[in-house]
Amino acid sequence: MTKTTTNNCQKAKMNVNKSLNAEQHDIVEKMRSLIKEVRKHNYAYYVMDTPSISDNEYDQLRLSLIELEERYPDLTQSDSPTASVGDNPLPSFSQVQHDIPMLSLGNVFSKDELIEFMRRVNDKLGDSDKDPAYEVELKLDGLAVSLKYHNGQFVRGVTRGDGQTGEDITQNAKTINNIPLIIEEAFDIDVLEVRGEVLMPKAGFERLNREAKASDGKVFANPRNAAAGSLRQLDPAIAASRPLAFYAYSVNQGLPEHITKQSEALGWLKELGFTVSAVKLVKDVDELQAYYESVIDMRDSLPFEIDGTVIKVDNLQLQSQLGYLSREPRWATAYKFPAETVMTKLNAIEWQVGRTGQITPVGKLEPVQVGGVTVSNVTLHNIGEIQRLDVRAGDTVSVHRAGDVIPKVTRVWHELRPEDSQPVMLPSQCPVCHSPVILPEGEALARCTGELFCPAQQQEALIHFVSRKAMDIDGLGERWLISFFEHGIVKTVADIYHLHEHKEDLITFEKLGEKSVNNILAAIEDSKKTTLSRFIYAIGIKGVGETTAQNLAQRYGDLPALMEASIESLEAVPDIGSVTAELVYSFFRAEHNVEVIKALIAAGVHWDKVEQVATEQLPLSGETWVITGTLVESGISRDEAKEILQSMGAKVSGSVSAKTSALLAGEKAGSKLTKAQDLGVRVVEEAEFLQLIGR
Ligand code: IVH
Repeated sequence: MTKTTTNNCQKAKMNVNKSLNAEQHDIVEKMRSLIKEVRKHNYAYYVMDTPSISDNEYDQLRLSLIELEERYPDLTQSDSPTASVGDNPLPSFSQVQHDIPMLSLGNVFSKDELIEFMRRVNDKLGDSDKDPAYEVELKLDGLAVSLKYHNGQFVRGVTRGDGQTGEDITQNAKTINNIPLIIEEAFDIDVLEVRGEVLMPKAGFERLNREAKASDGKVFANPRNAAAGSLRQLDPAIAASRPLAFYAYSVNQGLPEHITKQSEALGWLKELGFTVSAVKLVKDVDELQAYYESVIDMRDSLPFEIDGTVIKVDNLQLQSQLGYLSREPRWATAYKFPAETVMTKLNAIEWQVGRTGQITPVGKLEPVQVGGVTVSNVTLHNIGEIQRLDVRAGDTVSVHRAGDVIPKVTRVWHELRPEDSQPVMLPSQCPVCHSPVILPEGEALARCTGELFCPAQQQEALIHFVSRKAMDIDGLGERWLISFFEHGIVKTVADIYHLHEHKEDLITFEKLGEKSVNNILAAIEDSKKTTLSRFIYAIGIKGVGETTAQNLAQRYGDLPALMEASIESLEAVPDIGSVTAELVYSFFRAEHNVEVIKALIAAGVHWDKVEQVATEQLPLSGETWVITGTLVESGISRDEAKEILQSMGAKVSGSVSAKTSALLAGEKAGSKLTKAQDLGVRVVEEAEFLQLIGR
């Protein structure tokens, strides 16, 4: 038994339902009633974590349904909860354009701002319509989703995405227990679109995290993240195991004409079988404020998280009269809860080395509860931020956290600063490997120069080194590499070329076996013959991507020349600015890096000398290009396009002038395009660009 996914099949089944004899009709009725019951208990158990019947009773109900379905397979209903999740994991989500854009809401944070919102509503309405009735809902903290039904059959679920286009999450939506898949009351509605919020109730979230902790699985920071992560699972079987719920809040297509109010629309949705959260009608600002305050009081006792209330003009006719202002409706706003801010002591500032060598300051706090979680660390981002805040260890600070936003120091209480406190300095040495720390000019983040040597960066360096575009050591997967690293067999990238000396150990290593070891060693051997540009890319100099590596190989022809290059000489290489020049320069000045390079060459890594093409001979040399808009078709980012153009000899500038040779114009090109057209500058569209670069 699998869930039927194609609409035609579902329609066929419904037709069967319509032309049944009396006995079959009774069976279908029985099945539908059992389906309703089982789904209801599934919801109570999986989503709300409050079982409504005993396990035994539940099993009996489910079994009765299965027995009926086995006896009458032809009558089996496509939305039966006994059906296994029939769909296979998707390779990726497809993009779907919304019929009607999914917009966002404006915010207010106080009664005064609310009065201001209501005044703006009144300004837009005629005298007889002023001071309309408002309807207040909870602002559910999940993800907006649109559900579409054709003649009462659920056909598609789409996330909000960027508001215009979202992701097709149909198969995951089908696994959400309280989303009706067949709505008998809507059989005669061609297209019904219901929007609402997919969320993970608190109880289900806690259970999921409890289970994840016990099995070393992924623990989510909050219910919203957990809901988002679950909805975006490509494997519907995983999504199905997650306690998600859907709360409907609007009908965007297919609302019967006799319904003229938002509050009535929600009532109707309830009749159709949707879950709808609390609805309250209010007539003036005082009543609204009182309700808002009562919601704050009941917030913690609600089964799901909310981050405020949503106020909507109740009358739908007035809503369309009020319309939209840019991306927000004029007829609704969110009245959000105040964000939480607390004071605590900053005990220390520690410097941490990230996997790619950035050195970031982390504030160690006296643990405090903020916005429902205990916070004991807070990022201070970089030395510039420390100076801007003028923060020191020992200071009292305000820490702010709203929703799932990462905690942030918003204020330093200088008046409470202890007398003996000391200003914070950027460390001169990496806290892990003690290599010099540099802060390239114009950059916010300091870096450790011990790239190939620093243990904090080595794992990342190893993975990068063997990757396809680098040394391309196919047989040496990330898993083994990390395992070898953790066991101390491979410390630096050069050790990879000494793995053959440990062949016997490797064979017994986690039962790797002789055949696998031979494969790995052969792949390593093969990788020794490489190209200079691959090698430059592989050694993982910060700021040096593939194209830059190619440009460096082109410019210097061989490694010694590159290693000796001055900053000025490096800056003259296409697409290298002062920051990258400094990063390359300091990379080769760090003794550890040089040692690793020597070891690689000693182990037999080699390449042919590069035939250098004079820069003047590059196809676009002497030209100045400007890039605008988005390259939608190829998905090439602007930075990549810039690198490509530079590698072909062009200069890339930020603004169009009479000297511009060409404007590369993607979609949504704005004023630059107009200017180029005015100046008669050549405009190159994406297709032509792709042809030019040979893709
Ligand atoms: S109505 C034109 N009602 O808030 C937008 N939205 O900030 C109409 N949300 O994307 C949206 N609870 O995800 C509406 N009761 C509610 C809501 C709600 C939560 C979310 C929704 C939307 C976001 C806008």
